[in-house]
Amino acid sequence: MANANLALVKYWGKAGGNVNDAAGGSLSLTLEGLSSLAGARVRGTGKGDYCRWNPPAPAAGLTQFVAQARERLGIGDGLDIVVTSNFPAGSGLASSASAYSAVTTLLAGLADPQPRDAERAELARSGSGSACRSLLGGFVEWRPGKGGSVTQIATPEHWPVDVVIAVVREGPKDVSSREGMLRTAATSPFYEAWLAAGAEDLPVVRGAILNKDIQVLGPAIERNALRMHATALGADPPLLYWEPATLAVVREVWKLRKTGVPAYFSIDAGPQVKVICEPGSAERVAPAIAAVPGVIRVLRSFPGRAPSIVTAPPSWAQLPPDWSGSVPSTVGRGYG
Ligand code: PMV
Repeated sequence: MANANLALVKYWGKAGGNVNDAAGGSLSLTLEGLSSLAGARVRGTGKGDYCRWNPPAPAAGLTQFVAQARERLGIGDGLDIVVTSNFPAGSGLASSASAYSAVTTLLAGLADPQPRDAERAELARSGSGSACRSLLGGFVEWRPGKGGSVTQIATPEHWPVDVVIAVVREGPKDVSSREGMLRTAATSPFYEAWLAAGAEDLPVVRGAILNKDIQVLGPAIERNALRMHATALGADPPLLYWEPATLAVVREVWKLRKTGVPAYFSIDAGPQVKVICEPGSAERVAPAIAAVPGVIRVLRSFPGRAPSIVTAPPSWAQLPPDWSGSVPSTVGRGYG
């Protein structure tokens, strides 16, 4: 089982190659409670793999990922894999990060010998770039370069900030992050400037986390998010991930700040707004955000843990009926 993550400094551009090498560094916060569970059972070699994702999300990429990961890890085929997420998939809430890190954890647990951390990160990243950051808990930096590296810069306990998420659209986005990134790099005249600006934000955000300084963190994450979206808006055809309610929530956050509430937003590739606030401030932020017209619901989170292997599925897991109770015994290692 693995959590999603919120990018405080965004990954929005690939260096090339097939394994999602990033063009720039990024830094995220693993989000407790926004989780995906992956379960597997072995149907027998020669039968191909079968992957499902509940609530229904495109699983073609997942099937391809499982086939490649199995081969790399020396696991036989015929795996029946079900991924189930407890929040909307494909809508800018990093469902792919939690799903691919959950499946990576699951497959790594089935492999013998088990892959080392760097290999796990490379595997997760080949499914979805940001998934490599969900392999660690707390505040996580993904440094680009040959092979790349993923490092926990602070534990979840280091700074127990609150995260309030405004869901303003439930359906999947029109343009995936992968496609959006490629289009931005190929056509936006602002792309190089974006990469340079992101590189400047990174040490500021890292330092603010280490110092637990929201007054420094906040402006840096807001400008990083806005610059990513500005660069994407400059693509041809343009990429506009926002809904009217996205902007309304941004304005509400700015209004809250004027009244002295230390809350700052970030937006990934989708319309949802994630608000990070100092411990204790969520009690004021959540109702204010929930009251913004167009906000469907509000989710709450805080710094989350690394993936874990669990022996029984959580209550929210939507497993097909024929799976009940049989998965751990068939695989023998539980769910990832
Ligand atoms: O990992 P992908 O391909 O889903 O792309 C993630 C893109 C952003 O969420 C917008 C930024 C990030 O760093 O997570």
